[in-house]
Amino acid sequence: MLSLPMIMDKIVTLTLNPALDVATRVHAVAPEIKLRCQAANFDPGGGGINVSRAIRFLGGESTAVYAAGGHNGAMIQQLLDAESIRNRAVPIAGITRQSFVVYEESTTLQYRFNMPGPDLSADEWIACLEALFDLEPAYIVASGSLPAGVPLEFYGEITRYARQYDIRVIVDTAGEALHRSFGTGVFLMKPNLRELELFAGEKLQDEAHIKTVARRLIAEGLSDVLVVSMGAAGAALVTADRYLHQRAPVVKVGSKVGAGDSMVAGLVLRLAQGAPLEDALRYGVAAGSAAVMSPGTQLCQKRDVDRLYQEMAAATES
Ligand SMILES: Nc1ncnc2c1ncn2[C@@H]1O[C@H](COP(=O)(O)OP(=O)(O)OP(=O)(O)O)[C@@H](O)[C@H]1O
Ligand SMILES: [Mg+2]
Repeated sequence: MLSLPMIMDKIVTLTLNPALDVATRVHAVAPEIKLRCQAANFDPGGGGINVSRAIRFLGGESTAVYAAGGHNGAMIQQLLDAESIRNRAVPIAGITRQSFVVYEESTTLQYRFNMPGPDLSADEWIACLEALFDLEPAYIVASGSLPAGVPLEFYGEITRYARQYDIRVIVDTAGEALHRSFGTGVFLMKPNLRELELFAGEKLQDEAHIKTVARRLIAEGLSDVLVVSMGAAGAALVTADRYLHQRAPVVKVGSKVGAGDSMVAGLVLRLAQGAPLEDALRYGVAAGSAAVMSPGTQLCQKRDVDRLYQEMAAATES
């Protein structure tokens, strides 16, 4: 029997602001009247949790560390357990939020309602940090927004500490939390193009421009590796001395929900298996594109990811 390398168990994702994702369908959204929706579907959600779920769908292992409060927090734990995803819920006093997605059948449009989530006390976010480092990860995926009460330097502080123990930190966030991670030793940063533009404070006109700005940010200490995702255009991987652009395969768009998180899952899974950067990039793009193919709120499916990955690999070799 094939024995899997131990390192596969060493990915830990962190979600400070998870959500119980509630999805339903309705013929048409309209004001004032009672909308007859279909039975709801419940999924555990939030940046890091989505990454852990996508890793599981890809046949890998990770542990999801997350703050959890109230009945929504308890349900997230139940759902993760049911999917056999190792997880550590850090109890909090506040009530974990729900996110609400409504698919309108008459237009095929998806309406996404996101609520802010509870504040965390200092004791609570410190407990999350303890749970995280207690697991002795090789890779930490810090993903999503920071709830109120958590210092904006949080991801940066995780990174500084992790760096001392050779733990690689992957950060997928935007805005101030991204700014405050700058120069702390992040291994891999995964902004999308718009997030990178906001961060750089300029509109990125073309590939040459992206390359110049990305190189400058890396030289200034943003991260060792920068993966800029560009939707249907795929993603660029930039390091101090390399620039690689992996085009995304053309796929029929089901729903864009989960593209970014699935991409991060593909990237970190391959990296934790010891794959080279270009291979991890290709697998990440395949996972992102597979998530786009799947309908509703579904993340990527392994058979789609593997097929897209093989096709991209073949196209590169030919
Ligand atoms: N229309 C598309 N066709 C094919 N692949 C796509 C498309 N949109 C996204 N992808 C794939 O998903 C990856 C991530 O997408 P994107 O750049 O939109 O991330 P994101 O903005 O972080 O997503 P999210 O909104 O989920 O956070 C892309 O690099 C690509 O591989
Ligand atoms: Mg994203």
